[in-house]
Amino acid sequence: MELLELMKRRRSIRKYRDGQIDREALETVIQAGLYAPNAGGGQRSMIVGIHDAALAERVGRMNLARFDRSRLLGSYVSKEQPSVIDDPTIKSGFYGAPSVCAIFTQRDFLYGIPDAFCCAENMVLMAQALGLASCIVARGEETFDSEEGAALLREWGVPEGYTARCFVLLGYTDGETPMEKPRRAGRWKIV
Ligand SMILES: Cc1cc2nc3c(=O)[nH]c(=O)nc-3n(C[C@H](O)[C@H](O)[C@H](O)COP(=O)(O)O)c2cc1C
Repeated sequence: MELLELMKRRRSIRKYRDGQIDREALETVIQAGLYAPNAGGGQRSMIVGIHDAALAERVGRMNLARFDRSRLLGSYVSKEQPSVIDDPTIKSGFYGAPSVCAIFTQRDFLYGIPDAFCCAENMVLMAQALGLASCIVARGEETFDSEEGAALLREWGVPEGYTARCFVLLGYTDGETPMEKPRRAGRWKIV
């Protein structure tokens, strides 16, 4: 598939059907993240692939635990693929995705956040190319900000001083994949 076509067809999926993805596919998506552009060529980000639906569910609930809904007035994300903003009854920030990649960077590195989201973008495009559903999810920092979270990071060997920045959910779409939304006018020019 042509690259621009692939980019247009990628959608953030929040309805996942049962069924784990192959370990090989997960490794390929992680590789795509490792080859993302990165500030200063430092290759500082670290990716932990959770290939375990029960663990993904547990971390997904931690991801929502500190979600502050009080300042969401009027926010709206998607009718076809409702987010936790649209549907307050959703209990996991990972929407039942069977595999999830957590992307970590150094807490004090100036470009830690852009580095992580460059990884995430490479990863969702790779997922699309492999026929997988995906979604980028934020709130990385808060997710592991507890005794339970710190224990998981120790177990996974995440180095001291690193913090999660975002997640890439992976799985298979339950139902239809929504069509692309039209692009807002006036967002580009060539000078
Ligand atoms: C920086 C960033 C943070 C995001 N955080 C979340 C999130 O926490 N939860 C979620 O369901 N979707 C999240 N998304 C996905 C967006 O909601 C989604 O990309 C947007 O609605 C456009 O839809 P599309 O990806 O299908 O084109 C995030 C996307 C980006 C780029």
